Amino acid sequence: MAAPRNGLLSWLVVAVAATVTAAGVDALGVNWGTMSTRRLPPKVVARLLTDNGFKKVKIFDADERTMQGLAGTGIETMVAVPNDLLAAVGGDYGRARQWVKDNVTRYAFDGGVNIRLVAVGNEPFLKAYNGSFDGVTVPALRNIQRALDEAGHGAAVKATVPVNADVYDSPASNPVPSAGRFRDDVAGVMAEMCRFLNRSGAPLTVNIYPFLSLYYGGDGFPLDYAFFDGGAGSGGPVVDGRVNYTNVFDANFDTLVSALRRIGFGHLPVVVGEVGWPTDGGRRATPALAQRFYAGLLRRIAAGRGTPLRPRARIEAYLFGLLDEDAKSVAPGNFERHWGIFTFDGRPKFPLDLRLRGGAAAATAMPAPARGVEYLPRRWCVLSPSAGGDDAGAWQARLADSVGYACARADCTALGYGCSCGALDARGNASYAFNAYYQAQGQVEAACDFQGLAVVVDKDASRGACNFSVQVVGSAAPVAAAGTPVRTEAVLAAVLALVLL
Ligand SMILES: *[C@@H]1O[C@H](CO)[C@@H](O)[C@H](O)[C@H]1NC(C)=O
Ligand SMILES: *[C@@H]1O[C@H](CO)[C@@H](O)[C@H](O)[C@H]1NC(C)=O
Ligand SMILES: *[C@@H]1O[C@H](CO)[C@@H](O)[C@H](O)[C@H]1NC(C)=O
Ligand SMILES: *[C@@H]1O[C@H](CO)[C@@H](O)[C@H](O)[C@H]1NC(C)=O
Ligand SMILES: *[C@@H]1O[C@H](CO)[C@@H](O)[C@H](O)[C@H]1NC(C)=O
Ligand SMILES: *[C@@H]1O[C@H](CO)[C@@H](O)[C@H](O)[C@H]1NC(C)=O
Repeated sequence: MAAPRNGLLSWLVVAVAATVTAAGVDALGVNWGTMSTRRLPPKVVARLLTDNGFKKVKIFDADERTMQGLAGTGIETMVAVPNDLLAAVGGDYGRARQWVKDNVTRYAFDGGVNIRLVAVGNEPFLKAYNGSFDGVTVPALRNIQRALDEAGHGAAVKATVPVNADVYDSPASNPVPSAGRFRDDVAGVMAEMCRFLNRSGAPLTVNIYPFLSLYYGGDGFPLDYAFFDGGAGSGGPVVDGRVNYTNVFDANFDTLVSALRRIGFGHLPVVVGEVGWPTDGGRRATPALAQRFYAGLLRRIAAGRGTPLRPRARIEAYLFGLLDEDAKSVAPGNFERHWGIFTFDGRPKFPLDLRLRGGAAAATAMPAPARGVEYLPRRWCVLSPSAGGDDAGAWQARLADSVGYACARADCTALGYGCSCGALDARGNASYAFNAYYQAQGQVEAACDFQGLAVVVDKDASRGACNFSVQVVGSAAPVAAAGTPVRTEAVLAAVLALVLL
């Protein structure tokens, strides 16, 4: 390992950062995903982050445009090597060196990007991947850290691996947190990885989703256990020796701590890479429950308290996520497109104590909305009032075809039962679908035809809580490459596998 060139400077930066963390102002981060049909300009998003006091952000690649948005903000950034690069980076040190040169060194200048962590892969050990990344993740981790060290970034920039809680969270093998252990098939690779992280001084990163525990747990899962206010001290649903767990987040985190203790790394720092609650698209995906979840989580973080097994270790977490992403896969559930604490266009959805001030007043303050958002013209595409026909059957079929076409290419997830637009009738449904498609296509004229069934109107077609959106001016994103395409799809598969066992 070569000595870092600017070792002293890096060390100072680390020391200063550590002091700030101890003072307790910068524990909160957020995930910035970009799986949207139209992306807000990166500078607008970066300002949304700084306006709301975020000091940390996690992205899912090292996309040049995103990085340009973050440049000069000073926000501590976690960039990522996507799973599909793990084999190349793990198998060839030259490739790892090139990755670091292109995606870390390039931004390491005054006014550049304050990169502090590199996520090597995203949940590479998910059961649903069938072990595809088991053999390449640790080699990739080693190569990236070595390349960071040799380029002189090693003291300030650490490589980590975000894992899904499914590397340990199996109800069958972990009836209580203290029984926590890693899944048999990944126990070896987790031990090897932890040994490396411990030596390099990097944290382990884990994604924890109480919403998914509740969602897939069904009616057998006590609702209050998903939140942080479920009767602490009154004897929780899970009694584990001298500890009563009153919420699934603590139980989940401590299951990991126990698994780490079992392999001799009980003190390895753990960062929560993703945690959050969606607001639409499914049962219990509502702004009210999201507000309740975040209020409890942020109150806990503000108080500087950890979990029962690590009471003094303040929780360091990245919220999931910043904005709604209307092009994410809905294989796991329609809620996938509604994880944002802000709408797709940067409007806050509910009060949130993002600055960790603590107390009742802070908990009821709305986050600051995005500034400088430009919208397409105030125009909507709706089902023509005169549409309909003498031959009701043929017309219905044509309508269903058109709605199907629109919804396959735009986001109709708010139309589901119990969702924000779930009360529309068939004509309302069609209008919603036509508009979603028209907006996603940037309001081009040809996108509002639907075999002559649709018309453009300039009167807001929204109905109550059901918002017929007008899209933003922003780049139309090629959505296949970036973001978090398979994360929850794979989680779903993993969870289903558990249920079916
Ligand atoms: C650097 O990151 C970008 C964006 O994620 C990626 O497209 C590129 O392939 C990376 N560079 C190397 C050498 O892997
Ligand atoms: C994993 O295996 C299952 C069943 O054999 C298969 O359906 C699935 O496509 C595989 N997934 C991956 C990522 O290889
Ligand atoms: C973790 O790292 C520290 C020093 O960085 C070392 O003293 C300790 O032995 C390591 N723990 C294990 C279990 O390897
Ligand atoms: C935990 O719960 C059990 C059963 O509900 C109760 O007997 C016990 O006193 C509780 N312990 C603590 C520390 O609250
Ligand atoms: C509207 O669309 C949703 C989602 O596609 C569907 O579940 C619902 O049944 C539709 N309602 C009517 C009245 O067609
Ligand atoms: C609907 O979305 C638009 C932006 O497209 C926003 O200006 C408006 O306030 C929203 N209305 C509601 C009721 O949320």
